[in-house]
Amino acid sequence: LTLTAAPGPIALGGAATAGGLLYNGGAPGPTIRARAGERARIRLVNALGEPTIVHWHGLIVPESADGQPRSAIASGTTFDYDFPVVQRAGTSWYHPHAHHRTASQLHRGLAGFFLIGDAEEDALGLPTGAREHLLLLQDRSGDADAYTYAPTRDDALVGILRDVPYGNGVARPRLTLDGARHRLRVLNASQARVYRLARSDGRPLTVIGNDGGLLAAPVEVPDVWLGVGERVDLLVDGRSIPEGGRIMLRSLPFTIAVGPTVAIPQGIPMDLVELVRGAGSAPAEPPLPPVLSSIPALAPADPTVRTFVFRSPSPESHLIDGRAWDMDRIDGQVPFGRTERWRFVNDSTVPHPVHLHGTHFQVVARTGGRGEVYPYERGWKDTVLLLPLESADVLVRFDRYRGVYLLHCHNLQHEDAGMMLNLRVG
Ligand code: C2O
Ligand code: CU
Ligand code: CU
Repeated sequence: LTLTAAPGPIALGGAATAGGLLYNGGAPGPTIRARAGERARIRLVNALGEPTIVHWHGLIVPESADGQPRSAIASGTTFDYDFPVVQRAGTSWYHPHAHHRTASQLHRGLAGFFLIGDAEEDALGLPTGAREHLLLLQDRSGDADAYTYAPTRDDALVGILRDVPYGNGVARPRLTLDGARHRLRVLNASQARVYRLARSDGRPLTVIGNDGGLLAAPVEVPDVWLGVGERVDLLVDGRSIPEGGRIMLRSLPFTIAVGPTVAIPQGIPMDLVELVRGAGSAPAEPPLPPVLSSIPALAPADPTVRTFVFRSPSPESHLIDGRAWDMDRIDGQVPFGRTERWRFVNDSTVPHPVHLHGTHFQVVARTGGRGEVYPYERGWKDTVLLLPLESADVLVRFDRYRGVYLLHCHNLQHEDAGMMLNLRVG
């Protein structure tokens, strides 16, 4: 596959367009689909007029193919990725990761899905084709500036928060579901926005997967918190929407106990996607399999806890353990193949979605704030959301590659300000 990043027009609805950045002419870019065991060979062509690099968020790849900021390439050059797809089925994504440019390039349109399939998933007979929907969620302004990158000082602290929902690059998206089971893979590709997904009719959401693929079993929950970078895999039965009717997939209002006052804060209610009941239906479908996958539980080698503290002492300063990222500094050594217990501590008044490259982890505890691990956060994760004053404990093992991998906040203002660490696995 060749992936060309270049400026171009993005449709705003009607005849209007805005200048943005595109992968292969699209925003979002093409959906990449691979099978476990295949080999991915992808050439990135940088025609942006500025440095960039592509990171495969959620993919476990060698350091050389991870697309972290050190690998950024100049405009007019190319980068060749070549890696085996070593992990099981799941919903991953790709986006730019050049230092100080991630927020801007994502905001201007660069992002796409990277889906992996495997035999375990095939055997479940999940909805495919017209009954499988991808939903790349972002919040933008609803005007001609939707793709203009111009952060304010408030944005530097809380991240860019806007109030119009976009799905796959379209404002106020709509999906039509016939009377059958549908699969809805949702990605939060926003700058900073935390969504609390729920159905407008109050019915529960059925979750079958998250960042790292299938859950052990389907879970029904009233709502789903989704921080930047996280994914959730939902099953929605079109028959649960009245014929001729519609519901909204919305983000429920919430308040953050402490926090800055900004014009469009976290927690505003948003109607994200209209789900319309379309004509037609499937013959009766078998019940959902009670078991989706088997997830081995990690067990830490010893009780030591490695702690990382996330603080935002001023609007422009976002630090882990008191440091801003230095490309050439190694901030920690992690033994290859050993399971460790890590604690991410949010000692600040803004949310931090914490993301790890190079492996997946298991979330085992959350203290402070919401105080629980939700059932849809079980299984394998690569990103975990910390609201203000929350801590999360995760079990981590790097067992595929040695090398330098990033741990960072996925609020893109924070990330670009250096809320990142280099961990050497070896
Ligand atoms: Cu989604 Cu280091 O990134
Ligand atoms: Cu990543
Ligand atoms: Cu952050």
